[in-house]
Amino acid sequence: MTERVALSGVTETMLATLYCKALESREPSPLLADEQAERAVERIDYDFAKLKIDRSTAIATAIRALYLDRWAGEALDEHPDAVVLHLGCGLDTRSDRLSPGPGLTWYDVDYPEVIEIRRRLFSERPGHHQVAASVTDPAWLAGVPADRPAVIVAEGLVQYLAKEQIAELFTRLVTHFPSGAVMFDAWNSLAMRSGSRQKAIKASGAKLGGFGINDPRIIETLVPGLRFDAEQTFLDVPEMVNFSKAGQTAFKMMNHVPALRNMGRLLRYRF
Ligand SMILES: C[S@@+](CC[C@H](N)C(=O)[O-])C[C@H]1O[C@@H](n2cnc3c(N)ncnc32)[C@H](O)[C@@H]1O
Repeated sequence: MTERVALSGVTETMLATLYCKALESREPSPLLADEQAERAVERIDYDFAKLKIDRSTAIATAIRALYLDRWAGEALDEHPDAVVLHLGCGLDTRSDRLSPGPGLTWYDVDYPEVIEIRRRLFSERPGHHQVAASVTDPAWLAGVPADRPAVIVAEGLVQYLAKEQIAELFTRLVTHFPSGAVMFDAWNSLAMRSGSRQKAIKASGAKLGGFGINDPRIIETLVPGLRFDAEQTFLDVPEMVNFSKAGQTAFKMMNHVPALRNMGRLLRYRF
């Protein structure tokens, strides 16, 4: 059965990341095996070709997801009883890729129109909840247990939030839970200035939040209690060999220029 979707703006961007993961997963030796993404793309009635996703965008998206999966997996090994918040989840099925144990409570959070599609495509497991709300709405957090460490993951979300929204959201989370880890991909000012020209963002008409994170420690000043812990750039990881030779050469050069290297990277904080 095919599923019709009618999305525009920021919610539509999740179809691009889903498609990237499905494309990569169909490769003979995928960086990211994601059968759920493959099946979802087959079922969704949407013109994915209009996103003009090329091979390098699919690889880059898969690398980002892979490294975020690793960080999240490490955090879950430390805290098998954690509460996971998967913010701006789109149609990503990180919980299936990580196969968490029974002690976890998992919340996938996204706008109602996205969660409505998730519910049509994926079944909920015990301990797994789908929250249909803006992450910036303070109300939904009241229903989330506050007595366990949190693992908070956001992929492809923070670049769509304004500085004040990021500060308020993270402050609320740090106040709600006793301890935890927060991990997300961040763009610097240069990426923020050029990002709206990316094909998939242009196709959706999504508006970027405008807050470029050049120094990860700026988040510490915005959110009392949050400590910067680690960063992961992508331009020197072993998986770069999957790009074309020309791409690899360009990325190697970019890796020597901090403003270019930090256009997109993963950041992790603890509290
Ligand atoms: C680029 S997509 C990434 C989706 C998913 N994380 C992935 O990597 O496939 C951005 C997602 O963030 C969600 N999003 C953006 N702003 C949001 C907000 N204020 N509240 C909830 N979700 C939001 C969008 O609806 C969309 O699903």
